[in-house]
Amino acid sequence: MHRLDPKVLQSLLTASQSARTLSHSPYSRYAVGAAVLDELGVVHAGCNIENAAYPQGWCAEATALGAMVMAGGKRALAIVVSGPGPDVITPCGGCRQKLREFGDEDLLVIAADPSGVKQSWTLGQLLPASFGPGHLKTNDQNAN
Ligand code: THU
Repeated sequence: MHRLDPKVLQSLLTASQSARTLSHSPYSRYAVGAAVLDELGVVHAGCNIENAAYPQGWCAEATALGAMVMAGGKRALAIVVSGPGPDVITPCGGCRQKLREFGDEDLLVIAADPSGVKQSWTLGQLLPASFGPGHLKTNDQNAN
């Protein structure tokens, strides 16, 4: 397990599990909650929100990152994602890329279920050789 202050980890875990209870997932019945820690130590939570037009649904991580941005958070330092178990939940590929927008390769991704924390990785482990904001900053053709 990677290192995070135990009190901070507990608050992230509680927030993600609480967000999970709000999940709108009538189609998959797979409720997910997520809680992001921003650069100021503020926690932002979200749940997955599905849609009758299936592809229009989105993940808990996306909701939590949206909450962070709307609260003024700029960087994601850690995220706890809580699923139903028993299999360890792991962020989908799209969410890994969304996290990359606001986090470095050392961003902590922690998987949990109703019994507690199960596993953790860095974003660099989950999304190696990633494409990120830095790629665009160095390309003059992208200046406008
Ligand atoms: N889901 C998440 O919200 N986060 C994950 O990390 C994995 C999957 C959601 C998407 C969909 O609503 C449901 O779980 C089943 O895929």
